[in-house]
Amino acid sequence: MALLLLLPLGLGLSLASAQELNLQSVVRGNYDPAKVSGVWYSISMASNDMKRIEEDGDLRVFIQKIQSVANGSLQFFFHFMLHGDCVEVAMVCEKTEKDGEYTLAYAGDNRVQLWETDYMLYATFHLHSVRNGTQTRVLALYGRIPELPHSFLHRFERLCRKQGLGPQNIVSLSTRDPCVRYRR
Ligand SMILES: *[C@@H]1O[C@H](CO)[C@@H](O)[C@H](O)[C@H]1NC(C)=O
Ligand SMILES: *[C@@H]1O[C@H](CO)[C@@H](O)[C@H](O)[C@H]1NC(C)=O
Repeated sequence: MALLLLLPLGLGLSLASAQELNLQSVVRGNYDPAKVSGVWYSISMASNDMKRIEEDGDLRVFIQKIQSVANGSLQFFFHFMLHGDCVEVAMVCEKTEKDGEYTLAYAGDNRVQLWETDYMLYATFHLHSVRNGTQTRVLALYGRIPELPHSFLHRFERLCRKQGLGPQNIVSLSTRDPCVRYRR
């Protein structure tokens, strides 16, 4: 019982100590991949194809951590549900000649872009996927903690709107990770 009570308390503390979005610390280019490394949590996702990010969608993945590799690639460690089981995958995003842009071979041709980040609390990634001639766009908001203050969510919504994605295109993944007990 004591343990059960400790969990939400710890969460509340980390939230309370989380700062509001500081526009001065937002980085939108000239990225340092090493600073993107480390633990992340999926906060929100948006897409023009909701099937792929809703339950059982193939792009509904929960980030655990990102590792920058010496050769310039970024390794993403996700988990997701497959036939009721938690599955862990590592995906390598190969760097391109463009700053913050990567390619990913997964169910088609994908281009992954680091959209903006403050390294400390949040990062927004953009995925452009072409599969069988169909284009899908996904925006993902990651946080260093399982929940982010509203200022981050509002910025994400604005960013989505600029990409033609409204509130109906956004799903909240915060604390919805079905595999959270497998986090290491
Ligand atoms: C970069 O390193 C990763 C991890 O070791 C590897 O999977 C990937 O193939 C490498 N990329 C290139 C272009 O060598
Ligand atoms: C692409 O289309 C073909 C034919 O419609 C289909 O069999 C295949 O599963 C599709 N591939 C993907 C990755 O959706």
